[in-house]
Amino acid sequence: MSSLFDPMTIRDVTFSNRIWVSPMCQYSAIDGVATQWHDVHIGSFATGGTGLIMMEATGVVPEGRISTACLGLWNDAQTERLKPIVDFAHSMSTKIGIQLAHAGRKASCLPPWSDHPMASKEEGGWDCVAPSAISFGGKYPVPKALTKEEIQELITAFANSAKRAVSAGFDLVEIHAAHGYLIHQFLSPISNEREDEYGGSFENRTRFILEIARAVRSAIPNGMPLFVRISASDWLEDGWTIDESVELCRLLKDVGVDLIDVSSGGTSSGAPVPVGPGYQVPFATRIRNEAKLPTCAVGLITESKQADQIVKNGEADAVMMAREFLRNPRWPLQAAKELNADVNWPNQLIRGKG
Ligand SMILES: Cc1cc2nc3c(=O)[nH]c(=O)nc-3n(C[C@H](O)[C@H](O)[C@H](O)COP(=O)(O)O)c2cc1C
Repeated sequence: MSSLFDPMTIRDVTFSNRIWVSPMCQYSAIDGVATQWHDVHIGSFATGGTGLIMMEATGVVPEGRISTACLGLWNDAQTERLKPIVDFAHSMSTKIGIQLAHAGRKASCLPPWSDHPMASKEEGGWDCVAPSAISFGGKYPVPKALTKEEIQELITAFANSAKRAVSAGFDLVEIHAAHGYLIHQFLSPISNEREDEYGGSFENRTRFILEIARAVRSAIPNGMPLFVRISASDWLEDGWTIDESVELCRLLKDVGVDLIDVSSGGTSSGAPVPVGPGYQVPFATRIRNEAKLPTCAVGLITESKQADQIVKNGEADAVMMAREFLRNPRWPLQAAKELNADVNWPNQLIRGKG
């Protein structure tokens, strides 16, 4: 039986505990390059005792960014600017990963606090791509359906960004296959109406993620963990289901994926998601039990006892938290106190230990 503050080892990486920072877009990059905001944002978690910080959805190509102000990892300037952020996390004995992403039909936005949602060409926006020419709805335009050649280029782009993540010093990479972004758009029959080998059957809809996972696995060292974040369910009758997720995770395990980061939703803004405390945890449990690979649970996990129980009960191997970390970036220090557990306090903060 493990608890929240027990270490966990995957391949050559040992996480000091099982409270992890969930990836969170900060819309604060310039041309895909991290800024001082990222230094402080990630630095605040690094000083807070977490076992892993997962950096935000990071575009593998310019058109793969969610917004014009999202991080990218396709050139040297972007790679170099991430190095000091990674180094600082390591100086605090914190592991750090990066989420590699392509937003597909949900790309080319402006930061959410802008007065309009989509970036025009003058504002740095671009034409979006997707498996099929189907709009997400609302203000989102109709995307262009990718050709098979373009699909191959994107698989290579994921592998190239993974190599850059290695050279920046990250401990692991996570492939973003959730939340209605490009890879999930291939998985879900709602956004994928292709008639070639990338659409239709389960085997065809899962081809893109499996090819990406294989390419990324070969691009990173054997000792480096590879995570995949999925949306376990579209929460829609005709959508991607938890049964398909379990089957996909078995295949991901076979191609060398080490952990599934289990989220849900994102294919349709109208999906009836039963949001509540720990509402996605049962998906993480099913995948852990049936696909037999480690999972982390995410979604309205906010209390130390709640998080500890999820790990203790074997519902997931670790928990990720997002919004609670925005409110309290050093949440693990407080949680350790509440659970009577030990956690690594930075020397500079130790007088706060009480
Ligand atoms: C500001 C913000 C940005 C987010 N950006 C990402 C992202 O880049 N990638 C991702 O997979 N999820 C992203 N999410 C979703 C979170 O990682 C998390 O799955 C979700 O917020 C549920 O967890 P919570 O209830 O602990 O906040 C974001 C959430 C927030 C609040």
